[in-house]
Amino acid sequence: MYKLIHKDGQAKRGELHTVHGVIQTPVFMNVATVAAIKGAVSTEDLLGLNTQVALSNTYHLHVRPGDEVIRKLGGLHKFMVWDRPILTDSGGFQVFSLAKLRKIREEGVEFQSHIDGHKIFMGPEESMRIQSNLGSTIAMAFDECPSSTAERAYVQDSVDRTTRWLERCRTEMKRLNGLEDTLNPKQMLFGITQGAIYEDIRMEHAKRIAEMDLDGYAIGGLAVGETHDEMYRIIEATVPYLPQDKPTYLMGVGTPANILEAVERGVDFFDCVYPSRNGRHGHVYTNKGKMNMFNAKYELDSDPIEEGCGCPTCRRYSRAYIRHLLKAKEMLGMRLCVLHNLYFYNTMMEEVRKAIEEDRFQEYKKMRLEGFEQSSR
Ligand code: GUN
Ligand code: ZN
Repeated sequence: MYKLIHKDGQAKRGELHTVHGVIQTPVFMNVATVAAIKGAVSTEDLLGLNTQVALSNTYHLHVRPGDEVIRKLGGLHKFMVWDRPILTDSGGFQVFSLAKLRKIREEGVEFQSHIDGHKIFMGPEESMRIQSNLGSTIAMAFDECPSSTAERAYVQDSVDRTTRWLERCRTEMKRLNGLEDTLNPKQMLFGITQGAIYEDIRMEHAKRIAEMDLDGYAIGGLAVGETHDEMYRIIEATVPYLPQDKPTYLMGVGTPANILEAVERGVDFFDCVYPSRNGRHGHVYTNKGKMNMFNAKYELDSDPIEEGCGCPTCRRYSRAYIRHLLKAKEMLGMRLCVLHNLYFYNTMMEEVRKAIEEDRFQEYKKMRLEGFEQSSR
């Protein structure tokens, strides 16, 4: 159940009540694709970073170690030792971005595993069954994400198929939630709007699936090569047609600035690999923009990454030490950078929530964006 607590302009401050606890929104979900945050970050670490939600992936966990294995072990929460909410992406996107030799049919998609090449079939029912075996808090609908450059006729056909798939997802999820031995009988289902960069297709699709009374609504198919302005335009075209009393999720986005722009346009949920991927490359976020920790100017720098940052890294370690670890290819170097970055994103979202509550989101956003632009370090 989603509760809208306050609005500041279009920016929403809400709460999603789940069987695994309450999610305060807007929220940034921390990406744990294969049930692990890359960079040797444990779920115990996440507790110290104020992470509210972990995000895992249906496709990856189905291929390895297998959703049946995870089910036998009591479900994904128990497996990765995380009792807060978990959202699982449906596999739709990964099938299109990772797998080889795919064939799309009305029933679903046939493709080859990116691990060992064996043939796999996944359609709406398979995706729901896998996510039910994982027992995640929120399951995502099985969708097709057409490329941002796909032709209009293809996008329209694809979106229509995604709608039919969503109806099948809903029916199957209802059935699974009603089974006696289901892991999470209250598993939620979020639908996904598509439509590439065609505003009218996006609007029609949003209107169409808004009627389906789902637990939440995602905007998919963005941050796949279009410009930032195109992305903002599509969000503006879509959000007004999604139910106000349900959470909105912008999939795979983005930079801190992208997130602030989307919050302003009414988005509640985000996820992105940037903080962990950049951290593994020694790139860290600060209030004054990004820093490259490999830079020689940090050789003798005994300051933390960011003065005043409360993260486990900045409370103890210097830039000089982190630079040394990265250059020596010690895993700890990556780990410290990822911890800082996740804390940075989670803390920014906490500030975003407070700013919306106090009707000063515009001011907050302006202050943040001006800060990020100083990046000259
Ligand atoms: N992650 C980022 N974009 C998408 C999308 O369009 N669909 C799904 N299922 N996951 C995504
Ligand atoms: Zn820090």
